[in-house]
Amino acid sequence: MSQFVRICSVSELPVTDEVGEFTVEGRTLCVAHIGGSIAVLDGTCPHEGGPLGEGIVEDGRVVCPCHGYSFDPRTGASEQDSSMKAEVFESKVEHGELRVKL
Ligand code: FES
Repeated sequence: MSQFVRICSVSELPVTDEVGEFTVEGRTLCVAHIGGSIAVLDGTCPHEGGPLGEGIVEDGRVVCPCHGYSFDPRTGASEQDSSMKAEVFESKVEHGELRVKL
């Protein structure tokens, strides 16, 4: 059964228009702070496994550091390949902590 688990405290979130990498329950996650909202994506790029959490934010999208594929933080859709999607997880801020549904 999936449940919300803690990623980090609000004070540990990446600053606006940056991403960060976190490991929760053995999963690598990419936390993106974009335009005042937070999105949580699978930290492993669906292209060739690059570290999305070490990427950058550009034009409101998460850009992988390996080959520059970019992903919509809400849907995970890739701009470069319509058949490719990064997994996006439901998340919420509660009691000063970012939590993700795994
Ligand atoms: S591994 Fe991410 S763009 Fe290639």
